[in-house]
Amino acid sequence: MAYLSCEFVENGICFLVDSVMICCYAMSIGHQGLCISPKFVGQELDWEEVINIKQEIRERFAKNDIPSACLECPRLKNKEWKDKNKFNYILINHWNNCNMKCIYCYTRDRKKEFNKMIPYKILPVLKDAVKNKMLTEDCWIDITGGEPLVLKEFPDLMKFIIEETTATVLVNTAGTDYSKWIKKGLVQGRVSPTISLDAGTRETYKKIKGFDYFKKVINNVKKYQKGLDEVKNSLISLKYIFIPEINDNIDELQCWLNLVEELGIKNIKLEIEHEWYLKNKFVPENIREYIEYVKDFTHRYKCNLSYRELLVHIGYNKDEIHYIENGLWYNHN
Ligand SMILES: C[S@@+](CC[C@H](N)C(=O)[O-])C[C@H]1O[C@@H](n2cnc3c(N)ncnc32)[C@H](O)[C@@H]1O
Ligand code: SF4
Ligand code: SF4
Repeated sequence: MAYLSCEFVENGICFLVDSVMICCYAMSIGHQGLCISPKFVGQELDWEEVINIKQEIRERFAKNDIPSACLECPRLKNKEWKDKNKFNYILINHWNNCNMKCIYCYTRDRKKEFNKMIPYKILPVLKDAVKNKMLTEDCWIDITGGEPLVLKEFPDLMKFIIEETTATVLVNTAGTDYSKWIKKGLVQGRVSPTISLDAGTRETYKKIKGFDYFKKVINNVKKYQKGLDEVKNSLISLKYIFIPEINDNIDELQCWLNLVEELGIKNIKLEIEHEWYLKNKFVPENIREYIEYVKDFTHRYKCNLSYRELLVHIGYNKDEIHYIENGLWYNHN
């Protein structure tokens, strides 16, 4: 039977600092998300119970009793959902530790407190899920945070996923540090890193990120790209978050696009800064024009273009551009 639901409700799980949720997309647009376990700090999970809780939530969607947090979500689709009782999408987001100071980030004002926190171990949870055959063969594991490369478990986590599962890994990283595991995954076509550069110049980068690491990030991008063919190279994404009055000007954007072209980056992502949008509830005219400008660039340069949470929420997912087929599931980012 076809009904309105989403990949996360049907086949997803999301690990946060102290809970297990269905997704964390709802939170980025200011809603309370759907919960699987309200108190979770890494303890052993009863997978049958998790499946039962998810089943109850699925039944609500099947009866068209859609929770208010999900009502306007663009990820809702009307289709026949396969009842797999497995995870096709795992979001790992259980720590806030980070070495940067991005002006837009929710970690900004609580850096010291967050950096003192010791996250629970997620690898045993994942190993247990694999042991209990909870992952689909084409599972997506999205590692976000905090900064993945400051997570002590990151190398072991990547090693396990790459060597012991068939999952594809999405990693959101500041790109200031280099990971041999990201490189290994890229070589195998199994890992897709997204680096939010948000600037085309060193000065603006420093203003946004709080550190003078612009060149360091670019060098790491080059190291990741070295030796990859076009398809694998297109797994590396460079992102630009439009931050009103900081980087929403054509000169900065043009410098970023020049860099994209010089580096040969073939996957770009756009977003509008969340706090600003949630307060103002509109996309300024100049940013709308810049998005059109990037679309024209994408068609000329023939790369892939997608959008993140809030731009997806207001419908830009329909404008994704896709020149290189690399197997990424474009609608889910
Ligand atoms: C919190 S960060 C953690 C991952 C990693 N440290 C990074 O910077 O990519 C997760 C993602 O959210 C994005 N992000 C953080 N704060 C944001 C904001 N206020 N508006 C839009 N995107 C934001 C980051 O660019 C990143 O892609
Ligand atoms: S907020 Fe959207 S993605 Fe998250 S569970 Fe609801 S419909 Fe699915
Ligand atoms: S690098 Fe990521 S987690 Fe760290 S401050 Fe920037 S956006 Fe936040």
